[in-house]
Amino acid sequence: MSTSGSGNGILEGFFGSVSGSVERWTGIELNLSTVLLVVGVVPVLLGLRAAGRIHRTVRSGLSLLSGPGTVSRAAVKHIMENCEPGNPEMALKCADELDASGKHFLIHIGEEKGRLFDSAVREHRPTVVLELGGYFGYSALRVARLLSADDNAKLYSMEINKECAESCRTLLKFCGMDDRAEVLNCAAQDGIAEFRERTGRSSVDMVVLDHWKPLYLPDLKRLEASGLMHPGTVVLADNILYPGVPDYKEYVTTSPKYRTVMHTCKMTSFTGVETDDSVSVSVYLGEQSDR
Ligand SMILES: C[S@@+](CC[C@H](N)C(=O)[O-])C[C@H]1O[C@@H](n2cnc3c(N)ncnc32)[C@H](O)[C@@H]1O
Repeated sequence: MSTSGSGNGILEGFFGSVSGSVERWTGIELNLSTVLLVVGVVPVLLGLRAAGRIHRTVRSGLSLLSGPGTVSRAAVKHIMENCEPGNPEMALKCADELDASGKHFLIHIGEEKGRLFDSAVREHRPTVVLELGGYFGYSALRVARLLSADDNAKLYSMEINKECAESCRTLLKFCGMDDRAEVLNCAAQDGIAEFRERTGRSSVDMVVLDHWKPLYLPDLKRLEASGLMHPGTVVLADNILYPGVPDYKEYVTTSPKYRTVMHTCKMTSFTGVETDDSVSVSVYLGEQSDR
């Protein structure tokens, strides 16, 4: 008798007594090859899943390290090579597919949050929108494409990074939105102070916060102090839970100056794996409001 034969005999004997007990207790009859398949395949599948997550996280980290300017340029180049000009829907879809492919991990709002932004724009119909944090232009394009073409409506996107600002402009022009969107290459805090002078506008109807997270609250307070917001101005803010802006969240949910709704959603930016996040939609009620 061969060694492997005796090994199989021991295994079968052991399995026979275990499966007999299982059958007595549960009434379920076990089959040796099914059990071996489950015991062998499940750890392999779990291992592959974990490896996939690690791979996405590493790729995501590398994208972040290569800098927003480089990734922005690559994203817009990809869109221009694969989409027809003047077609914002196609460009947005192409950006989301590029992100999902893992070739470049983008820190844009993406489709799920994008639909929340779309609803807010459709509901509030802003004429002047101020965005802080333009990146390669995804959210700017998303909002600008829904602005009315005939009421002088315009989005102004403030972007601190020169390369990102250039990519953002290129994308908006490629999609035929350059008459409805303007990119200002500046730090938000400076841009807010110079907004009236640079744009000729005296107020904003919608604000989109998606820049440096520790600046959300100081920049919101700068906007309040500037007098640019009016009762009814809507403030959208991304990444409330992740990476998280607890001071901002606390402020807009407790101050009598705001009526805020939180929308929970999923995101994959920053880590490459699905994470819980939320987007806040706050209506500014004015300085003296008592709700
Ligand atoms: C998360 S990305 C914006 C994504 C974009 N809203 C989208 O969904 O397509 C953040 C951007 O904010 C810019 N940024 C960071 N701090 C800034 C500041 N103080 N003023 C203006 N832009 C800033 C970064 O350069 C980066 O491009």
